[in-house]
Amino acid sequence: MTLEMRNISKSFGAARALKNVPFDLGPGEVHGLLGENGAGKTTLMNILAGALQPDSGSITINGKEVRGMTPRKANEYKIRFIHQELNLCNDLAVYQNMFLGGEYAKAGLIVQKKDEIAKAQEVLDFMRAGINAAVPAAALDTAQKQLVEIARALLFESELIIMDEPTTALNNQEIENLFAIIRRLKSEGVSFIYISHKMPEIFAIAERYTVFRDGTFIQSGFIKDIDERTAAELLVGKKFVTENLKAAGSHKTNDAAFSVRNLRGATFNDVSLTVHAGEIIVITGLQGSGKDEFAQALFGASPVLSGEIETKNGRLNLSSIKKVMKSGVAMIPRNRKERGIIPHLSIRNNISLAYFTALHNSLFISNKEEINRWTRNKQKLEIKADSENNAITSLSGGNQQKVILGRWLEINADVYILDNPTQGIDIGAKYAVYKLLHELAARGKAVIVFSNEFPEIQQLAGRCLVFYKGKINADIQYKDLSEVLIMQYSTGLNAEVPDV
Ligand SMILES: Nc1ncnc2c1ncn2[C@@H]1O[C@H](COP(=O)(O)OP(=O)(O)OP(=O)(O)O)[C@@H](O)[C@H]1O
Ligand SMILES: [Mg+2]
Repeated sequence: MTLEMRNISKSFGAARALKNVPFDLGPGEVHGLLGENGAGKTTLMNILAGALQPDSGSITINGKEVRGMTPRKANEYKIRFIHQELNLCNDLAVYQNMFLGGEYAKAGLIVQKKDEIAKAQEVLDFMRAGINAAVPAAALDTAQKQLVEIARALLFESELIIMDEPTTALNNQEIENLFAIIRRLKSEGVSFIYISHKMPEIFAIAERYTVFRDGTFIQSGFIKDIDERTAAELLVGKKFVTENLKAAGSHKTNDAAFSVRNLRGATFNDVSLTVHAGEIIVITGLQGSGKDEFAQALFGASPVLSGEIETKNGRLNLSSIKKVMKSGVAMIPRNRKERGIIPHLSIRNNISLAYFTALHNSLFISNKEEINRWTRNKQKLEIKADSENNAITSLSGGNQQKVILGRWLEINADVYILDNPTQGIDIGAKYAVYKLLHELAARGKAVIVFSNEFPEIQQLAGRCLVFYKGKINADIQYKDLSEVLIMQYSTGLNAEVPDV
């Protein structure tokens, strides 16, 4: 497909989300669309897919101007949109979700359930998703749901696939599988628009890029002509200071704050670790390493078969999140959005809910306290919002994440456990999050972060624990950290190299 978008503008009330932006794309091209949270990326894609009408501007596909784009027209042009938000219907089976609104049904053919299941399964297997097409969507975890969203786009023949943050819930192996699929379809002439805040992904998969900032077009060009730092600077509009936060030194003390002893779950065994007050550790590992299940066990979402966890306040009872919080442990799960956001409520109410469920003891909510908390967070995390009274859904994806994350970080705990904390957050604001975590450590808090992004590990980890085959395979000190070393321990290479 060749696509040309010209002078696209779009306002929401007084807020101008897009100001006269251009965008173009050729056949078989993977085009990275970059910009900070709230830059207008999703809005432009919604316009292209007919979900939103632009205030002005034109869309030309294969040399012909398309007036009044609608979702149905976009579908006819074989444009598929993998949304930033998960849109699966929990009550339907995976295959039904995949066929929802699809061509088979539209053509009015008598659809054989068996055929649909078979076809859906074929796509899922092609993706190596390990998902059964006949199970209800409700049975899937978030990563699997994200894979189904992708599978849905692959089900029908496509000319353009828009991927808006497709990998936020995926692990490295799943991302590699996705990239293999993109490369293969690309060689058949399918075009892609790829949106991600993970710079290495853009550089691995895209050949061209376009940068937006605050709803305006900044620059377009070939990926081979820029590097990650230049891209980051285009994005934020200023020199990007990649200061090394770890270099400021460690605040680690000798007080054990969180001790895991011989913890065993379905896919991990005999895991022991101690995190000290003032220390930040990062836990990483590949798919199937047991790391994810270990994180889930800490979050009370998957069962612990034996072992125990101790904090300053005694043995931790994982059966109730309330009890966990009362023992001074704050747990910030991944995919906060899926679990944490009530779409119809305001930004402020959404913030309060997370907070009050966790630890508010009084019946009364202090208005002033609430407003202060919001203002503080807005500044610290550079949240782009007109008013805290707006619906949370009026915020861009990343700004919603910041709202929820910021609030949890405000809870006064001794230990903070965060799974994938910067998911969907732009590169500038990621630094703000890292700084907040270092501040927590400086105040004597123990911080445990689950992450698979090396730049993040490097910014945070006083030490990094690497899972392999259900056990901690390495405990790497900050000074020894390297991506290669982590990869070696993640893949168990160290176990196979004989000692010399
Ligand atoms: N339905 C809406 N109502 C009001 N404002 C909106 C709505 N949708 C988007 N906006 C505003 O438009 C701007 C652009 O948002 P958009 O979602 O396109 O950003 P984005 O580049 O996708 O950011 P992110 O990386 O965080 O997903 C934001 O300021 C956002 O608050
Ligand atoms: Mg977006």
